[in-house]
Parts: sequence; structure tokens; C-alpha cells
Amino acid sequence: MLHDGNSLQCDNADTTFDASGAVSCEMVEVRDDDHEIGHGSAKTSGHQFSFDRIFKQSASQMNIFDSVGKPLVDTIMQGFSGAIITYGQTSSGKTWTMEGASTPTHQRGLLPRIVNHIAHTITTHESGWEFTIDISVVEIYMERIRDLLDVMNTDIRIHEEKGKGTWLGGMTKLYVQSEQEVIDILALGAKNRAVGATDMNADSSRSHLICILTITSHSAERALTRTGQLFLTDLAGCEKVDKTGASGLLLEEAKGINKSLSSLAKVVQAISKAGAASHIPYRDSKLTRVLRNALGGNAHTHIIICCSPSRFNMKETLSALRFGSRAKKIQNQPVSMSMSTTKSSDPHENDRLRKDLNALRQQVATLQKQLTDNGITCDPDPAGSILHRDADVDHQDTCSRSESVHFCYTNIKLDVISALLALIPAYGLITYLKRWICEQ
Ligand SMILES: Nc1ncnc2c1ncn2[C@@H]1O[C@H](COP(=O)(O)OP(=O)(O)O)[C@@H](O)[C@H]1O
Ligand SMILES: [Mg+2]
Repeated sequence: MLHDGNSLQCDNADTTFDASGAVSCEMVEVRDDDHEIGHGSAKTSGHQFSFDRIFKQSASQMNIFDSVGKPLVDTIMQGFSGAIITYGQTSSGKTWTMEGASTPTHQRGLLPRIVNHIAHTITTHESGWEFTIDISVVEIYMERIRDLLDVMNTDIRIHEEKGKGTWLGGMTKLYVQSEQEVIDILALGAKNRAVGATDMNADSSRSHLICILTITSHSAERALTRTGQLFLTDLAGCEKVDKTGASGLLLEEAKGINKSLSSLAKVVQAISKAGAASHIPYRDSKLTRVLRNALGGNAHTHIIICCSPSRFNMKETLSALRFGSRAKKIQNQPVSMSMSTTKSSDPHENDRLRKDLNALRQQVATLQKQLTDNGITCDPDPAGSILHRDADVDHQDTCSRSESVHFCYTNIKLDVISALLALIPAYGLITYLKRWICEQ
């Protein structure tokens, strides 16, 4: 897709790029009804690439969503993992493609449309299924992973386990139940994202942004649980450091960005040459470790190359197209994460968990009373948030079927964990007090 006459965006497709015949002021030309694109002026030898699909200037946000976002969401709902990665130099339209503008609605990008489609799929889904959605937003900045939903959490660790894959420990996961909630969370994440001014773009994002949506669906009747995860990755600009005019901190940022992007390029190069079975330098950067599953793993991955046809950006455009062309050779092996659950226990699980929760609440209250009776002040209501959330559960019981069942199920699970955590310090203190009294 070209925007305002100076950028082109291509998604993978079986289409040919032809170098010859580009108009004099532009380095990229789309011809023959989206099937041929040239890069290079008539005077140069030009280059030829193959992609799955090419969006030109006239393509709308909806066109991109229909081609990329919609089919991917349908796959994620079936328990597969997926990723969309926007790649290109600063100002080429990566964030526009991923987020777009909130108004007018036709300018909304992939993210809000994906969330909308998930909500629509859940409400129109066949009955008997419960859904949970959680969302995390992180950024990789100067080789550190920061939690954009908790700014104090500045160094998230990557965990890897054979058979379990890669995951981020300790990042905030927020359970959501409406499209608006997701949009608010994304706005918070965007606000916290590090931005810096460079000569390329006053608002250029200096970090890689990763939004992780996890959708779990459960059918008690079929004794089946599916978990699909979607990694939406808006990369920082891939331009050469000298072109940004950066110095000081911005120069350090640019080097950090280049390091992770060059690791990404190396990983893509290694897989495209030798296949994922050989040694792939995933461990060279945080970015490649986090995106491991998307690159040669079991995810459905779409890489959207955003590029400029302007002569000034010729080098970057060519390099982005080359990157995309190599990435197209990567063969992922998507696997659905579906798990059978025991049929008999499931229909009553909510009731059982609710009873457990109430019993734990009573124990917490008893322990609190014992502490107070012994003259020890304590948090008046460590289970307060739990009580609050219980009210939400009751509220959800009155909501429409598909959403209410889904969120009751999750909240209760969370509550039990929270109550147990609240209990541990109180219980330890009581035990200590009892021993101390006996010893006196
Ligand atoms: N297809 C498009 N239509 C309209 N405006 C666009 C389009 N693509 C990018 N822009 C605008 O161009 C500018 C740079 O785009 P942006 O997505 O922020 O670039 P990047 O994230 O690649 O640095 C922004 O002001 C954005 O709104
Ligand atoms: Mg951006």
C-alpha cells in the first residue's frame, strides 16, 4: 500500500517484483493490477522479489485486515499461535498499519479491528463455549523488556523450556471483556512507550512494541480447552544509524535497535538458508528470543513490509524488500494447542471453585481476627479486591451468555490464587505467635 505518494507496503504473496520501468521520481512502481512491482530506476539494473500480496496506495485499512487480520483471528480461535510483524524504516507506516487512527473508524488499524473481530466471533460462537482473553503489552528497549502496563516492571525475563516454548515471566496480564477495555489498555501501553525525536520523524518509536493476546476457549460438553496466542509486533525503524542524525542517547538507542534488527535479519537469513532444524542464532537478541515461535516455530506468521518508493529511501526500501523476500522462505509448522479435559468434573468446576474461595475467605477473616485479638494490626482486608471482583462475577452472571460464563470461570480461578497468597503471610504470623505464646 502506498500512502500519500511516498510509501509502499507489501505483505507476503506469490507476486513478482520487476525492477524495470519505475517512474523517474519513484523507486517502486506497482503495475498490472497488484501483480508486478518494480524497484530501481530505468537507469539501474533493478531487482525482482516475490511476495504473497502487495497493497498499493489505494488499499484501505479494511483491505489489509480482511487479508491478514481476519483469517489469522479465525485461526487463533482454533487454538493456534500467530504473529503479525510490521517491518520497515521509520515513517514507512508500521504503526499506522498496526494501530491506525481511532477516528474516523475506517482508519482503524489491524489491532482494533482484530479485537473487534474477536469480540464478534465470541458473541456469535456456537453455545457451550467459555472464553477468556488476556492481554499484555511489552516493549523491547535497549535490550531490556519493559512492561508497558506496569512501568515499574522494567526488566522482564524470558523463560525457555523444552516442550513448553518461550514465555515472558512476570509481565502484567489483564483479563478483558470488551473491545473498549482492550483499546484503553493499548492506549495506556502506547502512552508509556518510549519515543524520541530524530531527524527522520519527530514521533519515531525507538523501541519494539509487542502486544500479546491470549484467547482460551473451553467447552465442558466436549471436554476441550484451546489456547491461541497472537503476537502483534510493531518494530522500530530499520534505517541506518547515520541517516537519523542521532547522537548521545538517541545514538545508543539506534545502535540497540540495529542490534536487535540485525539479529532478526540473521535469524531470518539462517532459517531461510538452512531451515529451522539447523543452528539458528535466536539467542543473539531479546527480540529474536521473544519472536522465536513466530520465526520457524509453530505460529502462523505474517510479516508486513512497509517501504518507501522515494529515491531518498532507496537503500532502506531495497533492504526491507530483501528482508521480506528472505522471510518468505521460512517454513513454520503451526500446531493447535487443544487439550482434553475430564468431562465429569467440568460442569461443576465453577461451583467448586466458588466454595473453595468462600472457605478461604473465611479462613483469612479468622486469621485476621486472631491477629487483631493479639494486638497486631494487619491489612484490614487483604481479600478486599477479591470481594470486589466477586461483585463483578455476580454482575457478569446477568450479562449475555457467552461473555458471562467465560469471565466467571477466569475470575474465580484468579481469586483462589489471590486468596491463597493473602493467607500465607497471615498464617505464618499466627503460627509464629502460637509458638511464641507457648514458649512464654
Ligand atoms: N496508509 C497511510 N495513510 C495515511 N497516513 C499514513 C499511512 N501510513 C502512514 N501514515 C502516516 O505517516 C506517518 C508515519 O507513519 P507511521 O505509521 O508512524 O510510521 P512508522 O511507524 O513506520 O515509523 C504518520 O503520521 C502516519 O499517520
Ligand atoms: Mg512506528
